[in-house]
Amino acid sequence: MHIQTAAVHTLRDFEHGAVVPPVHLSSTFALDCASEGGDFAYQRGANPTRAQLETVLAALEGAQHGFAFASGMAATAAALSTLVVGDEVLLPASVYGGTYRFVDLVLPGRGVTGRFVDDLGALTDADFTPSTRAVFIETPANPTLRITDLRRISELAHRHGALVIVDNTFMTPVLQKPLDLGADVVVQSATKYLAGHSDLLAGTITTNDDALAEAFALAQKAQGGVLAPQDSFRLIQSIKTLPLRLERQQENAGAIVAHLREREDIARVWYPGSYSEEEARIHASQATGGGAVLSFELADGLDRVAFLEALHYPAYAVSLGGVESLICRPATMTHEAMTDEARANAGISPELLRLSVGIENLQDLLDDLDQALVAAR
Ligand SMILES: Cc1ncc(COP(=O)(O)O)c(C=O)c1O
Repeated sequence: MHIQTAAVHTLRDFEHGAVVPPVHLSSTFALDCASEGGDFAYQRGANPTRAQLETVLAALEGAQHGFAFASGMAATAAALSTLVVGDEVLLPASVYGGTYRFVDLVLPGRGVTGRFVDDLGALTDADFTPSTRAVFIETPANPTLRITDLRRISELAHRHGALVIVDNTFMTPVLQKPLDLGADVVVQSATKYLAGHSDLLAGTITTNDDALAEAFALAQKAQGGVLAPQDSFRLIQSIKTLPLRLERQQENAGAIVAHLREREDIARVWYPGSYSEEEARIHASQATGGGAVLSFELADGLDRVAFLEALHYPAYAVSLGGVESLICRPATMTHEAMTDEARANAGISPELLRLSVGIENLQDLLDDLDQALVAAR
């Protein structure tokens, strides 16, 4: 089954001939009095609607296990909760700000160290110590869209007994399946493309590893950051149009990249594979498209604030992946928690703007960018 079909037909044949699944709101479930057993006991541990969503999540990824959390950060925290006192995790210096905050402020209290690496793609044996138990990857990186070779890093990490966790939020399983490339765990902020309408906070984990799956089920039950039944249902419904939305968003993004590259008032455009031919080759070998996020810098002398104020369609807001285009300034928004030096090392200049492209009419978006560039002069 192709992913477009899996997104729609993984769940089917519901009671009464319904074509969408029922929503089970019950927080508790009657048990068999003699055996004290039952499929479900209490909503935090498991509930039928979340279980259905988790089946869809696993199917999209071709994975054995799927888990739904109340946010992308709850999923990331659960994935990193497998680390114990004395362990170290390697992460890219430009990792999503919320992940940076968790690793910087929470993990040290648990005796776990996060080591931020400027160019994770350049990792070698020498970067691993006996304490290195995990490598956390975002490819494409945010907001520079730099690429990390998932096969190479997975092989390298496994040689050192370290887990590979991939935050696949920017690609989704429609464009990239890290578990097939050697990763152990995939996390996503489902708030972005999976939900797709900027109206739902959710996170996911998928894995093929049974022992890790047990740890994530424990994280759901013991830490309680699970997705509620109504939101699970809404995510099931949103996922049905994920491949379609992303296809249109990616088409728009590709055309905007080409358009901005032609303009003399744009200093630089970042898109997966644009950093080097090598990165373009790696990305093409592990993903089926560049996605719908791009970054750019205005040429010297243009007024950034005037440009942003003149834009009619993209709202000046964090987040990405929704049907509406959004634009943000990573240095002061998504990556504000990094030091100036770390941002400079990661290639995030104060002038860099990140555009998440929506499903609007392409010509309307191009015209809007062009008129805002005129206003910025
Ligand atoms: C790449 C990435 N990972 C994780 C997260 C965290 O997800 P959430 O906001 O759903 O907690 C975000 C949110 O912006 C993100 O962009």
